[in-house]
Amino acid sequence: MDNQLFDFGMVGLGVMGRNLLLNVADHGFKAIGFDKDPVKTADFEKSANPGTTVKGVNTLQEMVSQLSTPRRIMILVPAGKPVDDVIESLLPLVNEGDIIIDGGNTFYTDTLRRYQYLQPKGIHFIGIGVSGGEEGARFGPSMMPGGDLVAWEHLKPVLQSIAAKVNGEPCVDYMGKGAAGHFVKMVHNGIEYSIMQLICEVYDILHRGAGLTNEDLHQLFSQWNEGELKSYLIEITADIFTQKDDKTAAHLVDMILDKAGSKGTGKWTSQIAMDMGVAIPSIDMAVTMRNISSLKKERLAAAALHQRDGQPASLKAANLDDDCRKALYTAIILSYVQGMAMLHTASKDLGMEIPLHNAVKVWRGGCIIRSTLLETFYSAYQKNPGTPNLLLDDTITALVRSNINSLRKIVASAAIGGYPVGALMNALTYYEAYTTGRLPLNLLQAQRDFFGAHTYERIDQEGKFHTQWGKEEAGSSKQ
Ligand code: 6PG
Repeated sequence: MDNQLFDFGMVGLGVMGRNLLLNVADHGFKAIGFDKDPVKTADFEKSANPGTTVKGVNTLQEMVSQLSTPRRIMILVPAGKPVDDVIESLLPLVNEGDIIIDGGNTFYTDTLRRYQYLQPKGIHFIGIGVSGGEEGARFGPSMMPGGDLVAWEHLKPVLQSIAAKVNGEPCVDYMGKGAAGHFVKMVHNGIEYSIMQLICEVYDILHRGAGLTNEDLHQLFSQWNEGELKSYLIEITADIFTQKDDKTAAHLVDMILDKAGSKGTGKWTSQIAMDMGVAIPSIDMAVTMRNISSLKKERLAAAALHQRDGQPASLKAANLDDDCRKALYTAIILSYVQGMAMLHTASKDLGMEIPLHNAVKVWRGGCIIRSTLLETFYSAYQKNPGTPNLLLDDTITALVRSNINSLRKIVASAAIGGYPVGALMNALTYYEAYTTGRLPLNLLQAQRDFFGAHTYERIDQEGKFHTQWGKEEAGSSKQ
């Protein structure tokens, strides 16, 4: 076969790799995929649409030799060592100028390391965050490429044609320098964790607290999905409430064990935010709740031991549905606000120069956190690309201000009623703290200086000061 035949190669024909490559083929590109497993390569060829050009091969050599140059090769294998192994196997087969893409959920420092390793060899290495799951990969994902600009230019035609489209614009664009693509995808996942946890907490309030049935919840979430909460995660939640179990007559959601899994991207977001000194408490709490959920046995023992009269209390109240909707809406806005503030800091402190308007632009379609809100954030960044925090934007300020009292109300009644609503609480605390001009941490500075001579700043004079606490005669001195 002509060795210039194929336009795009894929290493790994698992669910994401296969679907993404079929999507590439659907858009007129000749697509070749490698997988060690002949069943997967055969399945790939069988699933292709008539009229498309696809081929599955079982050696990397066969794939690389049939790609046009510069070769465009995407790796979609589990993050970590498997990616390094594939790169090592590819190196003897590729040439200077070829492009290797990592499309997995890779930790961003691994991307930086691989970029620095491959650059001197003349290989263009680019990390791309891909979101949208199986369906998105097949029919239009959101993609977040970052780093090597030459690679981005070569990949643009393919990526733009396979991406989801919103108002005719493809949900793919350049995310900035170095490992910005994987960094932005990591923060996307952190926001995803937060929104999912918030939805679960509101479900708890409505279901356990106010007695709404799965049918009621289906109706309510469907209704919410027609308004300002319109989003992928609300939409699938509405659908989940109608799914029946195929093993019993029950609703499937009631048969699922309350232990949440995770692959680590939410935890990474929290870890890196801590390292950078950025506050993302809603995401932190979402990770924490997954951790607590895994302690099922202990929780059952503790539940028996800590029974409280009248708790959990009934949360039935006038306007509860409406307050829940507004509380959820506000807390979801605050999840994006925290994630975007983290990207703002990463952009400066990690030198990624992330165009924040591009991040919210590509999240408008195809990805798990797509929602109508993204359009509002996109406008905010178009107006003021350098804003450190979306709570400084007029439109977002107005949205939050008109709904925040419902968040306060829901958090207060859930807390008194004995419900774990940490993500809602943390969203509220983030808001209250960020919008408070004078926090009580003047006292904390005094404590630090008292026991450790750590110094403090004053409200009326420049400089660092230390006080000999309790010793009137020694007083305070400028350090
Ligand atoms: C996406 C998802 C995807 C994956 C998550 C799941 O954007 O398509 O985020 O990447 O579903 O990584 O993560 P957890 O297993 O940690 O929940």
